[in-house]
Amino acid sequence: MSETTLKPREHWSGSLGFILAAAGSAIGLGNIWKFPYITGENGGGAFVLVYLLCIAIIGLPVMICEIAVGRRTQRNPVGAFHELSPPTSLVAHGIGLAVLLTGLSLLVFRTWGWGVVLTVLGLLIFRFGWTVAGFMGVLAGFTILSFYSVVAGWTIGYIVEALAGRLRFAEVAEAESFFGTFMQDPRWAIGCHLVFMAMCVAIVYGGVRKGIERWSKILMPLLLLLIMALIIRSVTLPGAVEGVRFFLRPDFSRINAHSILVALGHAFFSLSLGMGAMITYGSYMDRDQNILGAAFSIVVLDTLIALMAGFAIFPAVFAYGFRPGAGPGLVFIVLPTVFHRMPLGIFWAALFFVLLLIAALTSGISLLEVVTAFFVDERKWPRHRAALVLGAAIALLGVLCAVSVADWSRLAALQTTLTWAFGTARDSFFDLMDHISSNWLLPLGGLLISVFVGWIWGTKRAVDEIRHGSQNFADVHLVSLLAGLKDDPSHNASVHIVTLASLWGIFIRFISPVAVLIAFLHTVGWLDFKSSPPEMPPPATEAPAWPSAAE
Ligand code: PHE
Repeated sequence: MSETTLKPREHWSGSLGFILAAAGSAIGLGNIWKFPYITGENGGGAFVLVYLLCIAIIGLPVMICEIAVGRRTQRNPVGAFHELSPPTSLVAHGIGLAVLLTGLSLLVFRTWGWGVVLTVLGLLIFRFGWTVAGFMGVLAGFTILSFYSVVAGWTIGYIVEALAGRLRFAEVAEAESFFGTFMQDPRWAIGCHLVFMAMCVAIVYGGVRKGIERWSKILMPLLLLLIMALIIRSVTLPGAVEGVRFFLRPDFSRINAHSILVALGHAFFSLSLGMGAMITYGSYMDRDQNILGAAFSIVVLDTLIALMAGFAIFPAVFAYGFRPGAGPGLVFIVLPTVFHRMPLGIFWAALFFVLLLIAALTSGISLLEVVTAFFVDERKWPRHRAALVLGAAIALLGVLCAVSVADWSRLAALQTTLTWAFGTARDSFFDLMDHISSNWLLPLGGLLISVFVGWIWGTKRAVDEIRHGSQNFADVHLVSLLAGLKDDPSHNASVHIVTLASLWGIFIRFISPVAVLIAFLHTVGWLDFKSSPPEMPPPATEAPAWPSAAE
């Protein structure tokens, strides 16, 4: 018998440990790299407002859900869904059968790729029911980390290049060609990606308290310090006001259904929701810790850092006369050019990329932890073996991403097979991994977790779990809370029905699933809003899909 079955489950040392680790997972490339450029593309302030709304009404309730499921079951996502599912679910069998039949009919029509995927999925759903949602999370851990670590690798490369004084670009075009050559050089791209994966493995290898928690407690305060230094530099540049104005002034003519759905999708990615990262981190939580308070702090910290990234980037970009709508290249192409024009540019550039690396690292470890926890809990692997073997497997997948992002045809056999099976191989293997996880696995995962908690496990049991450690906060009359009368006895009589808990239940049962479903159908192209609002001007610069930014 392996040692893991004998050991009790490791737990965070306290609330702060959990909050910092989970905020570390949430705060990542999504906040510092993606949020500023999608804000730039979608018109600034108005988009920021929409994003904040999505975070508050969808992100926070789903975050509470995931943590509650994790803490209740003390298991990885697969184990968690397994434990809370009813023994036989007719609905799951029905859905499984329907998916299986669809898959088989696609095979009859020789649509091989989708036919095989749906047939296998149908069988899995039929056999495992809701547990498949957990499997999807583990799969997302693999696919997200494979491309995430390539981008994180670029930041390592850029730190080295900055310190070596090679990020000297007078014009954006120079920076663009530099980034192109940099990405295409397999030694750099693969080498840096492997260094990043090795860092993730080393931390996850150390375990929950000595690895993840210890490093989060060091790295998160450092991240806050670095970003504050960058903001001060950026907003004190002459001409910075323009950038602040762009970021803060809402121009609602730039908002349409498409940008709302981009905001919703990004809220999920940014809060690490929909793939069980928060279930896994929640599973290391003690029952006396406060779920509501922790979820609230994580969401606030994540949003704060995204906004701070905007304040660090836009004022500087505007101060030197650049455009904010530069797309994915904003951070790797426009910013180095901006830094070069600043006094002490090398220093600021290195500082910025160190910041990006720290953010990516604390997210990378949470992705690896989801996969590791699955093998430790369900397959009884010792943690160090799981971290090493799975880290190596993901690193291998990432090598394919790193090689293909420069030139898909380097992996001609894979490209041809995918095109044969699915009719398209997208822009690169990198792009494919991003597409599968961001457009399919995360939204579907988010949809499934809210439907599961809202309708299968039940909001009643979930609220029972949340109540532990939350000092009955879930039952406080919402109006009395807003009025500052939380502890006033006359305002806490049991007849009150508008409590935080009831509000949360309504969001989880109705609003989140519907919103996520609409966003999902839109991203996969089954619902098209693009033609509806004609007043939307085109983005400042035509943005390519992000992995091919520098082509
Ligand atoms: N939230 C991370 C970011 O903003 C990415 C991530 C997604 C991490 C899903 C874990 C799980 O970059």
